[in-house]
Amino acid sequence: MRYRLDRRGFLQVSAAVGAGAFLGRSARAFDVNGKLRLAAIGTGGKGRGDLASISASPRVEVVALCDVDESKPHLGWAAERFARAERFHDYRKLLDQANLFDAVCVATPDHMHAPIALAAMALGKHVYCEKPLSHTVHEARRMSEAAARHKLVTQMGNQIQSHHFYRTAAQVVREGGIGKVREVHSWQSTNMGWLLSPDRPKGADPVPKTLEWDLWLGVAPERPYKRDVYHPFNWRAWQDFSTGQLGDFGCHILDPVFKSLGLTAPISVEAAAPALNQETWALRSKVEYRFPGTPQTVGETIGVTWYDGPGNKPEGEKLGLPSTYQLPTAGSVFVGEKGAMVLPHYAALQLFPEEQYRDFKIPKLEDLDHYTTWAHACLGDGETGSNFSYAGPLTETVLLGAIAIRFPGEQLVWDAKRAEIVHHEGANGRLTKAYRRGWELPTA
Ligand SMILES: NC(=O)c1ccc[n+]([C@@H]2O[C@H](COP(=O)([O-])OP(=O)(O)OC[C@H]3O[C@@H](n4cnc5c(N)ncnc54)[C@H](O)[C@@H]3O)[C@@H](O)[C@H]2O)c1
Repeated sequence: MRYRLDRRGFLQVSAAVGAGAFLGRSARAFDVNGKLRLAAIGTGGKGRGDLASISASPRVEVVALCDVDESKPHLGWAAERFARAERFHDYRKLLDQANLFDAVCVATPDHMHAPIALAAMALGKHVYCEKPLSHTVHEARRMSEAAARHKLVTQMGNQIQSHHFYRTAAQVVREGGIGKVREVHSWQSTNMGWLLSPDRPKGADPVPKTLEWDLWLGVAPERPYKRDVYHPFNWRAWQDFSTGQLGDFGCHILDPVFKSLGLTAPISVEAAAPALNQETWALRSKVEYRFPGTPQTVGETIGVTWYDGPGNKPEGEKLGLPSTYQLPTAGSVFVGEKGAMVLPHYAALQLFPEEQYRDFKIPKLEDLDHYTTWAHACLGDGETGSNFSYAGPLTETVLLGAIAIRFPGEQLVWDAKRAEIVHHEGANGRLTKAYRRGWELPTA
């Protein structure tokens, strides 16, 4: 059986989303067979892995697929594999079929996460959304509020959180393995490879027949299609679509820092980075966050410093690590009162000084399945670790860093309760953005 369009449902749901109405579905809805009916939005790239991983559960039925590109690597493969699923290019038409599905997986480029997820949440749908949760701080706040208001089951796609490497590290820190923590340094020092051009290329290329370029742009300002410059994958270089290197990796690498120390919102953030142009992200930055202290930290506040760009890492020796020790290409150093922990991204943790920790019993934790944990939680079974009440503040923190990169050398003071950067009009203006006419954020 294929899932059919229903004209009446189309009109009713359009009106409900437009008015921001919640349709009142059970927060733990599932179909008569007890399966979670999944709609996947963005089925190429990471969406392919997400869809395969979520649908690995026999309790999930893939009922709808949506991608703006119908070629084989994007919608094509999924349409073959899930032949009974309804297919869409425009997520708004999929959402108009609200009776079709219970939950969505959103794996589009970053600029479309919030518009799609908020519209789905307005319909009472559970959401798995790729990291970072959103393109702006304002969107992240709206997403965590909507998930809480509608009591939906949510999960951000920072799947390494569920891996035993990250879970073990968080437990070691929480149990005082290195004592209370004084400072943390986190980095991603590889060359990202997606900054192909420092400025917007001139002219336009013919749009491939398989691609709906206007739908790909979505909320972003119009610009001509250029082959290989944006779609797929290389959209990461561009401010209109992505949140830079920090946005790409921060929600992974800072996640165990948040989990182990119980961090929520920073008090301030300050960046050192080369001046940004109007179009692309910087290839290198250092961002210093200060957070309120927690029971796991020393003192009233704690500093967390982020580094990105080729070869950009902290100096291990200054953090008490042996001079001969080579820091991994990406990860974190937690400097504690009793010792230091290096957590690579991602591999097993290491404790220093090594002699001191020779007999230390590192707990043995299992991997959890980040994807099916969410699907099963939607069915009323268990909880998710990266629900939007956790992932929202983590994403806000990451994106505040991306704002600080625009104002190098200035300390931005964050009032999390009011969602405001104190006395800084320019930076406050970056908490949100202009939406293309007809593509305004839905109310959820
Ligand atoms: N969790 C991880 O480890 C991880 C790894 C890679 C990417 N990601 C995240 O996954 C997301 C996608 O990244 P990617 O590298 O796969 O990008 P990509 O460009 O390779 O793939 C995006 C897919 O979404 C489709 N798409 C684009 N706009 C769409 C729209 N409006 N509606 C429906 N489909 C649309 C594209 O056609 C493509 O199939 C990003 O948010 C990225 O940050 C996460």
